[in-house]
Amino acid sequence: WWNHVEPAPKDPILGVTEAFLADPSPHKVNVGVGAYRDDNGKPVVLECVREAERIIAGNKNMEYLPMGGSMHMVEETLKLAYGENSDLIKDKKIAAIQALSGTGACRVFADFQKRFKPDSHIYIPVPTWSNHHNIWRDAQVPQQTFRYYHPETKGLDFASLMEDLKNAPSGSFFLLHACAHNPTGVDPTEEQWKEISQQMKVKGHFPFFDMAYQGFASGDPERDAKAIRIFREDGHLIGCAQSYAKNMGLYGQRVGCLSLVCDDDKQAIAVKSQLQQIARPMYSNPPVHGALVVSTILSDPNLKNLWLKEVKGMADRIIGMRTALRENLENLGSPLSWEHITNQIGMFCYSGMTPQQVDRLTSEYHIYMTRNGRISMAGVTTGNVGYLANAIHEVTKS
Ligand code: LMR
Repeated sequence: WWNHVEPAPKDPILGVTEAFLADPSPHKVNVGVGAYRDDNGKPVVLECVREAERIIAGNKNMEYLPMGGSMHMVEETLKLAYGENSDLIKDKKIAAIQALSGTGACRVFADFQKRFKPDSHIYIPVPTWSNHHNIWRDAQVPQQTFRYYHPETKGLDFASLMEDLKNAPSGSFFLLHACAHNPTGVDPTEEQWKEISQQMKVKGHFPFFDMAYQGFASGDPERDAKAIRIFREDGHLIGCAQSYAKNMGLYGQRVGCLSLVCDDDKQAIAVKSQLQQIARPMYSNPPVHGALVVSTILSDPNLKNLWLKEVKGMADRIIGMRTALRENLENLGSPLSWEHITNQIGMFCYSGMTPQQVDRLTSEYHIYMTRNGRISMAGVTTGNVGYLANAIHEVTKS
């Protein structure tokens, strides 16, 4: 039956974790996947999560959630994206479902796009998270690209981005990273977001935000929602994928949210029912545990404050590691500029290293990262930053 099946290519991100796990070297370093580690390189369960689990342990059952998931969790999640006192929430203008983290939210949206705008394409930034390509490919939505990153400045290519928005056919779908762009760590400024929003308004484009790192750009989830708020002020009907993988450290719990702002409550009911219809044959209904953890934290002011403190703590440790990595490289006398390590934000540093240089890091130094040169700063620690800097220096100096 299956002789014709060839092995699938390795995933460019999760394949790195597989290779790391298979390496017996005691010196190995994993700066591949975007998953937070403490300064000892250990995975972290947030204290607010531990506390929420203690609270829910006694009273939870294992019943199915509705197809759209926990509406309690969804409501709290919408407040994070659209604002605590958003009229959109009060007026029930948002169609939203619990999703299997950010990936699941993007996938349900991509299927919805295909079903209800069958001729549309999706414009994806260059570069983007590699899985975005897989998601819209499997949903059979044709992909176009728009320019985003400037390899020379290692910053935003704003002029080209604006040009591409302008030249795309009116009414196109654009995938935007709400904050802490993955993989580049380069976000538009507030002023630039305003111009992007204006241009998209003029062209009647549809903005779909992937917000996988809310809290990791500035250390404050509220501030990291600014792009969404700007677009809303301009009256865009937007879509948004939210994830608690990173900012609550709930990676394996697969908890997130997909929301679509609608014209009115009637439209929102219809859209939500269709989103549920897409979820039902795919996974029926989402898992319950992570949703309970999230709703418990966000609806308890003390736990929410603890969470905000812990998010900031994670973001600050990463910022500290950016400084340390740059300083180490400069102290080694690297002739290259490493300013971008501290200019970029979020979990990742888009180092500018070539695939060949990355291959050398792996084969000679047991350092694992994606071949596009992305370093997950969340995997850098005071214990490995010197080793990492030295290896980077060695492979980039000639
Ligand atoms: C990453 O970019 O490393 C994360 O979003 C994890 C993933 O699923 O790829």
